[in-house]
Amino acid sequence: MQRLVIEGEKRLVGEIEVHGAKNSALPLLAACVLSRGESCLHNCPKLTDVYAACRILSCLGCKCERQGDTVVVNTDGLDNFNVPDELMREMRSSIVFLGAILGRVGKCRLSFPGGCELGPRPIDMHISALKQMGAAIKEEHGTLECDVGNGLKGAKIVLSFPSVGATENIILAAVTAKGKTVIHNAAREPEICDLARFLNKCGAKIDGFGEDTISVQGVEKLYGCEYDVMPDRIVAATYLSAAASTCGELTLLHTRTEDIESVLPVFEQMGCSLYTYENKIYINARRGIKAVKTIRTMPFPGFPTDAQAVVMAALAKARGTSVMIENIFSNRFRHVDELVRMGADIKTEGKVAIIDGVKRLSGAKVRASDLRGGAALVVAALGAEGVTQISDIKYIDRGYEAIEQAFSSVGGTIKRVQ
Ligand code: EPU
Repeated sequence: MQRLVIEGEKRLVGEIEVHGAKNSALPLLAACVLSRGESCLHNCPKLTDVYAACRILSCLGCKCERQGDTVVVNTDGLDNFNVPDELMREMRSSIVFLGAILGRVGKCRLSFPGGCELGPRPIDMHISALKQMGAAIKEEHGTLECDVGNGLKGAKIVLSFPSVGATENIILAAVTAKGKTVIHNAAREPEICDLARFLNKCGAKIDGFGEDTISVQGVEKLYGCEYDVMPDRIVAATYLSAAASTCGELTLLHTRTEDIESVLPVFEQMGCSLYTYENKIYINARRGIKAVKTIRTMPFPGFPTDAQAVVMAALAKARGTSVMIENIFSNRFRHVDELVRMGADIKTEGKVAIIDGVKRLSGAKVRASDLRGGAALVVAALGAEGVTQISDIKYIDRGYEAIEQAFSSVGGTIKRVQ
């Protein structure tokens, strides 16, 4: 078992590169199933979840090869429509293979997906939408048996909540369905736009992405293309939080300001200086940070739930009291107990966390319990006095490429040990 050992209170200074987005790369890899021939995904991050998606592709009969930051997928050999339970359990987004496999093969057998424990994560909206599009879906002993008979048909689908995964699954199923699909109350996250742009480049006809009504006109076939995965907006928010936590001064390279417009004002309220230019974000937190007004997590364009934990870790040392309200997942404060071990003064009740900033955090032995919660411990540890040991870092590796190298390159003292 590996751990991260972090000696804190080292100001982070310098330039740091933001890698490609996990939550875009995963649906894009699933989308490759729909295209004949070869697709090349550039800027594809080296993450355990991405490797798991590649294993699903290989198990379907596709060729999936990595060449540096590029993953090349060839679907010519696709001959299987079963995804084994152990691969489904590796991550939540394995479920987006359902729409893609149904679109290409017309049949699919898989089990319920795994992923971080953030509270109940049902897939009722995915299933109901695919049924409206003509799929017959039977659930037995934890397995979903899906068959589209004579093919998927376009439908008008109204989502009760703008679910990211359900919107992706519907788009994937709709691109080669007969007729037009219209999704109302669709998710507007930048990763949805990335998926739609990739599919359009492969020959799909998707309109309205980035808005709450998306329409998809089915086409007969898609063909592979080359595409650059968007930069990871949550990794960017994590680096900004680490700068704030260490009173540092960082320039984030290869990022997109428009994707984190709801996050940047929070750092300004903390008292950091921020400049955005071209695809870079400069942050200066040398003067220390102060508490912020209430932060509520919301679907995009609101403040992202995925940035809640890392921003909280920075606010643990801010002057004054901040309040965070988690509206998306019911169990997404599991990092709080660990931050408290490091000396933070944070109380939670239901979906509300009250963060009374303390002067100093102190290094401790802590455990990551989910991906972003684990990253929050890294952010806190970088700004804490003394040494922190973080265990269960497999969660962090799901979404951050060699996090110890990224922070070491800007002055952090952080090592991975066995
Ligand atoms: N929901 C349902 N029924 C459904 C689908 C969702 O009730 O059929 C509920 C969920 O239980 C949750 C809410 O709707 O309370 C939002 O879920 P959503 O479907 O939008 O999330 P997701 O697709 O499961 C993606 C990201 C998450 C991110 C959320 C919200 C991927 C692979 N995962 O999950 O990312 O938190 O959207 O933005 O894209 C992470 O990267 O750490 C992470 C958890």
